[in-house]
Amino acid sequence: MTELSAARPDRMISVREVFGIDTDLRVPAFAEGEEHVPEIDHAYRFNPDVTLALLAGFSRGRRVMVQGLHGTGKSSHIEQVAARLNWPCVRVNLDGHVSRLDLVGKDAVVLREGKQVTEFQEGIVPWALQRPVALIFDEYDAGRPDVMFVIQRILERDGKLTLMDQNRVVSPHPGFRLFATANTVGLGNLSGLYHGAQRLNHAQIDRWNIVATLNYLPRPEEIAIVQARVPQFADAAGRKLIDSMVAVAELTRNGFAAGDLSTLMSPRTVITWAENMEIFRDPALAFRLSFVNKCDEAERAIVAEYFQRCFDRELDESHQLAMQAG
Ligand SMILES: Nc1ncnc2c1ncn2[C@@H]1O[C@H](COP(=O)(O)OP(=O)(O)OP(=O)(O)O)[C@@H](O)[C@H]1O
Ligand SMILES: [Mg+2]
Repeated sequence: MTELSAARPDRMISVREVFGIDTDLRVPAFAEGEEHVPEIDHAYRFNPDVTLALLAGFSRGRRVMVQGLHGTGKSSHIEQVAARLNWPCVRVNLDGHVSRLDLVGKDAVVLREGKQVTEFQEGIVPWALQRPVALIFDEYDAGRPDVMFVIQRILERDGKLTLMDQNRVVSPHPGFRLFATANTVGLGNLSGLYHGAQRLNHAQIDRWNIVATLNYLPRPEEIAIVQARVPQFADAAGRKLIDSMVAVAELTRNGFAAGDLSTLMSPRTVITWAENMEIFRDPALAFRLSFVNKCDEAERAIVAEYFQRCFDRELDESHQLAMQAG
C-alpha cells in the first residue's frame, strides 16, 4: 500500500449520480479507499444545500462549518460525503478534555533499540495537515481557549502550522481539508441548551469560508430518515406511527421555542424512540424510556400532553397533569 501522504484525488465523479442532486457539477475523489475513509451508510439521506456546501469544501478547499441543533446529522453528513469520495477523514471532538498538546503533539518516552529515548510525537493536527485528510473539529464551540489558539494558526491564509518546540513549520498537503460542526454560531449558550459552549470571537468565525446550517427538516423528510434508520417501520402503518412521533417532536421544539420546555426532541431522539419501540413494542413505554425520563420532572406533564395530542391515548404522566389542574 502506498503511503497516504503520496495519495491524490485521481478521478472526477458526478454529483448527480452519487448524491442525486440536480447539477452538472463534478468533484474530485479517490479511486481507492483506505483505513481512514468512513464507511458508507446506505440509509443516510443527504440534505442538498448542506451537501453542496460540503462539496465546495472538498473540491475547492473551502473551510466549511456546519451549525445546527443537536442530533440533526451534522457530523454524519460530513462523514458520509467523505465516504462517497473515498476521502480519508478524522474527527476530533473539541469538548473540554482535548488539550493543546493533544492537537499539536508532545515529547514522549519511547523505546528505541532497547533504550529509552525522549521523542516528539506528532499530534493529530500536524499529522492530518501533511496528508489528504479531511479534519473535522466537532463541537467547535466547546473548544478551550488554548485549543482555539492552535486552530487559529491553521486558519490563517496559508494554513501553515509552526511547531514552536520543534523549530519546524508544517505546510498543508494539497488534499488537506478542514471542517467543523457547532451547535451555536459562537454566541455562547444563549438558549440554555448548550452548557459549555464558548463565545467565539468574530475573527475566528470570519476565517470559515462557508457556514451551512442543518436544523430541523420538513416533516416528510424527517419521517423518511427515521424509516431509513428503522426499516421495520418502512411500510404504510409504520409511516403513520412515525408521523405521530415526529409530530410529538415538533411540539417539543415549539414548546422549547415558546419557553414552556427546557429541552427538546432531536431527530436522534426520534430515531432512538423508534429503535426502542422495536424492543418494547409500545409507543408510550418506549417514549417514556427514550425521552420523558430525560425531562425535568416539572415538565413531564406537558410532554405527556403532547403525546396524548398526537397519539390520542394517555401516557401515565397525564394523570399528574390532571391532578395539578384539579
Ligand atoms: N439525514 C440523515 N439520514 C440518516 N440518518 C441521519 C440523518 N441525519 C441524522 N441521522 C442520524 O441521526 C443521528 C445523529 O446524527 P449526528 O451525530 O451526525 O448529529 P449531530 O448533528 O452531529 O449531533 P450533535 O450536535 O449532538 O453532535 C445519527 O445516528 C445519524 O445516523
Ligand atoms: Mg456531532
